[in-house]
Amino acid sequence: MSDNIQTVTVLSKTTWTPNLFSFTVSRPDSFKFTAGQFVRLGVNPSRLKYYQQVEASDEALNEDIFRAYSIVSSPFDEVLEFFSIVIPDGAFTSQLQHLQVGDELLLNTMPFGFLTLARYQKPLPKDLWLLATGTGLAPFLSMLQDLKTWEDYEHIVLAYSARSTDELAYVKQIERLQDDFGSLVDNPAKLIFIPIVTRETVDGALSERLPKLLLEGTLQARAGIALDVDTTHVMLCGNPDMVEDTKEALKKLGLVMNRRGEGNIAVENYW
Ligand SMILES: Cc1cc2nc3c(=O)[nH]c(=O)nc-3n(C[C@H](O)[C@H](O)[C@H](O)COP(=O)(O)OP(=O)(O)OC[C@H]3O[C@@H](n4cnc5c(N)ncnc54)[C@H](O)[C@@H]3O)c2cc1C
Ligand SMILES: NC(=O)c1ccc[n+]([C@@H]2O[C@H](COP(=O)([O-])OP(=O)(O)OC[C@H]3O[C@@H](n4cnc5c(N)ncnc54)[C@H](OP(=O)(O)O)[C@@H]3O)[C@@H](O)[C@H]2O)c1
Repeated sequence: MSDNIQTVTVLSKTTWTPNLFSFTVSRPDSFKFTAGQFVRLGVNPSRLKYYQQVEASDEALNEDIFRAYSIVSSPFDEVLEFFSIVIPDGAFTSQLQHLQVGDELLLNTMPFGFLTLARYQKPLPKDLWLLATGTGLAPFLSMLQDLKTWEDYEHIVLAYSARSTDELAYVKQIERLQDDFGSLVDNPAKLIFIPIVTRETVDGALSERLPKLLLEGTLQARAGIALDVDTTHVMLCGNPDMVEDTKEALKKLGLVMNRRGEGNIAVENYW
């Protein structure tokens, strides 16, 4: 096993829907990361308690399978939290869905990724827009648990799109962040949360896809803030089609890709 790979223990599991769940694992003392980064997590199906319970002994499943996972928890937490989809025929998540407290996973302790606020050079613009679909919410939850994010921006807009209300996970936790970090920076209104539910009509949520909402100005109107090449940072994470279409919409609105510290838009594709 590589020097970077450590065994971690599952400490808790939260099931949001049959296709979405979160879990926490123990955090190795030496493991450091920046909010927004991802790690490679490994599962060996034959070592899950579930397999022992069903007495499955398929040799083919006695192998380590690794996938990239964004870290949900803050860099200051004692545990590491992750938010996962279940793809029924996916090699990794068809196994990971059976996780139970006490199971062991593998963690490659080399953190990866440039979807971090450090990628933007100072002086910082005023506004941060975080646009996510599905589990692409994960890196933004980590950033929102870092006080520096709240101190560095005048407004933070979090727009989070899911197909249905039950798939809009973490809403209560986001509201708690609004209260807790909002009071720490004496501005409860700093985080503007905009839920988007695309396949149901839901009170309080927008219902169109992100690119359309941006091009029509609906998202900006809901946030009460304009997008401006000089004052805006925008991060996109999740479905690659959303990332591509939203990137194009933002460019039409005058924003530019962030390269070598300069520019507005930073992205991360999940597949
Ligand atoms: C940088 C990075 C960070 C990632 N972070 C996360 C994370 O925090 N949580 C998470 O659940 N996944 C995350 N992923 C995706 C993850 O690595 C796996 O693809 C996912 O766990 C499915 O693995 P699988 O083997 O079951 O299916 P795969 O064979 O990997 O994927 C099969 C198909 O499932 C769909 N799919 C894959 N991942 C997702 C997803 N997250 N949401 C919706 N559809 C998906 C795509 O259509 C994909 O082609 C991340 C990927 C990258 C590149
Ligand atoms: N969610 C389910 O009910 C379900 C059930 C079984 C399996 N799965 C599997 O899970 C995966 C999808 O999971 P998911 O629902 O988390 O992700 P998703 O398909 O990416 O949907 C999440 C959100 O992203 C939006 N979106 C998709 N493409 C977009 C684009 N080009 N521009 C802007 N927004 C866009 C969706 O809007 P739209 O609603 O308009 O697409 C939805 O609001 C698929 O592989 C699927 O097979 C999902």
